[in-house]
Amino acid sequence: MSEGKIMKKIIIGNWKMNPRTLKEAEKLFSAVAKSISALKKTEVVICPPTLYIEKLNKISKKIMLGAQDAFYGDVGAFTGEVSGEMLYNVGARYVILGHSERRELGENNNDINKKIKASLAAGLRPILCVGESVRDPDHGYFNFVKTQLEECLAGVNQKLFSKIIIAYEPVWAISSTPNRKDATPADSEEMVIFIRKILSLKFGKEAATVKIIYGGSVNEKDAKDFLQNGGVDGLLAGRASLDAKKFMEIIKICEALNK
Ligand code: PGA
Repeated sequence: MSEGKIMKKIIIGNWKMNPRTLKEAEKLFSAVAKSISALKKTEVVICPPTLYIEKLNKISKKIMLGAQDAFYGDVGAFTGEVSGEMLYNVGARYVILGHSERRELGENNNDINKKIKASLAAGLRPILCVGESVRDPDHGYFNFVKTQLEECLAGVNQKLFSKIIIAYEPVWAISSTPNRKDATPADSEEMVIFIRKILSLKFGKEAATVKIIYGGSVNEKDAKDFLQNGGVDGLLAGRASLDAKKFMEIIKICEALNK
């Protein structure tokens, strides 16, 4: 079904650098694919390690595939990099860009901006991750996210905004962050409202077509609350997406809620 009338919600699994083998990846992917029957209101995307994409794409078309990064050059002397076009050609339709774990390795807003433009040109839908590392008492984190949005989206063709998904992922709530804390749906909703405001001030009416989702240790227990009260169009799950049962539960919750 097209997105025409029903605005589909989206559940994205970020497998990160897991699992260890293609065999395990195929098993996990198949388990999720098997239990998905005729979803009408939910789009499911799995972002496995790049080298599993082509194989997984042959298992099922019910799940869309995404990469976890894409380089900004098309082709040429870029040792170790993979282009958006190459990812598209092996079956990827989405790409996570600017994840905090990549920013931690040195990626900056300018790199991410180039990657967003190149990925859009290659036909991929970018999932732009933004989010603060700490919530300071002076609310400087709003400005931090504002800068991420403005710099990452600078000069992006506004006609392509409907292809962009923004994932609000407060770094302090992500499962890999030491001493992490739980974010609440209220934390998400407040930031989603802020993101919408910044996007519309900076980029005009096209900005309303951007989907905004939440990520940061979402699981089958709090997914419903985030979907209902977090102001979001979907969820990005890391750890929970590595467990077929938990991930399926999140998908089912979304499908049941999304009227
Ligand atoms: P998590 O990961 O759900 O394990 O916190 C989310 C992410 O980092 O994208």
